[in-house]
Amino acid sequence: MNVANNWKDYEILDMANGEKLERWGNVILVRPDPQIIWKQKSFPEKWKSVNASYHRSKEGGGSWQYQKKMPESWKINYKDLTFRIKPMGFKHTGLFPEQAVNWDWMIEKIKNSKKEIKVLNLFAYTGGATVACSYAGASVCHVDSSKGMVTWAKENLQASRLENRPVRFIVDDVFKFVNREIKRQNTYDAIIMDPPSYGRGTNGEVWKFEENITDLVELCSKVLSNKPLFFLINSYTTGISSTVLENILRLNLERKYKGKLSSGEIGLPMTNSSLILPCGIYGRWEN
Ligand SMILES: C[S@@+](CC[C@H](N)C(=O)[O-])C[C@H]1O[C@@H](n2cnc3c(N)ncnc32)[C@H](O)[C@@H]1O
Repeated sequence: MNVANNWKDYEILDMANGEKLERWGNVILVRPDPQIIWKQKSFPEKWKSVNASYHRSKEGGGSWQYQKKMPESWKINYKDLTFRIKPMGFKHTGLFPEQAVNWDWMIEKIKNSKKEIKVLNLFAYTGGATVACSYAGASVCHVDSSKGMVTWAKENLQASRLENRPVRFIVDDVFKFVNREIKRQNTYDAIIMDPPSYGRGTNGEVWKFEENITDLVELCSKVLSNKPLFFLINSYTTGISSTVLENILRLNLERKYKGKLSSGEIGLPMTNSSLILPCGIYGRWEN
C-alpha cells in the first residue's frame, strides 16, 4: 500500500459508518466512502464541528448540507503545488488527495531524467498530475472531455504560479485525440491516465473501463517516444486488481521497451491512528 503521508493542508480526522471526516485547509467536510464498512468512530467529538456533509439520495446522486459558514471555494497546498477546492455534485471536491502518491513519483522521475520530457495526461480532470509534471519541468498535454474541468485545470496551473510553463489544454474524447496524434506522428515520453469507471467523450462517446482500457493502452503505446520514461494507469474501478493493470502494461509495452513494471494500492492515512483508507489502484511501467 502506497500511502499519501505528506499532506499538511489535508487530513482524514476520522471515518466510520460509510463516511469520512476530512479537513481541507480550514474547512471540515463529511463525505461518503464505500470502503468504510466499520461502525466504530475513533474520535466521536471531532464530528461536532463540521462545515458541510454530502448525503447520497436513494434516487442516486445526492446533495451537500451546509452546517457552518464556509467559503464557496478555497485553496490548499501540497508542497509547492496549489489547488482550488470546491464542493461539487457526486461528492467531488475537485481533487483526489491520494493522487499525491503518484504526483511525488512522477516529479522524481521527471527531475531525475535531466532531459525535456513530453507528458500526455488523459482523463486529466482538474489537472493534479498536469500541475505536478509541469512543476517538475515537463511539457504537458492535458486532455479531458469536460470544458469546465479544463478551465479548472488552467486555474490550478495559475494558482501554482506555473502559467508560463508549456501546457496544451485539449477538450476532446481520449480515443479521438490519440488517434489524431498517431496520424500526426506526435510522440510522448510519459503517459498518465486516470479513467473513470464510466464516462463520456465530447460527443457522448461512451467510456467503460473494463471494455475500453486495453484498447486505449494499446493505442497509446503507438504515441510513445523511442525512449519513454514512464506509463501510469490509475483506477478507482471496483473489483479490478492492480495486477490487471500491470498485465495490460506488460502485454503492450514489454515486447518493445525494456523496463520495470509495478502495481499496487494507494491510500490515505488517518491522523492519530494506524487506520488507512484504501483509495484505488495503480499500474506503472518505468524505464
Ligand atoms: C474522475 S476524473 C479522473 C480523476 C483525475 N484524473 C484526478 O485524479 O485528478 C475522470 C475525468 O475523465 C473525463 N472523461 C470521462 N470520459 C472521457 C472521455 N471519453 N474522454 C476524455 N475525458 C473523459 C471526465 O470529464 C473527468 O474529468
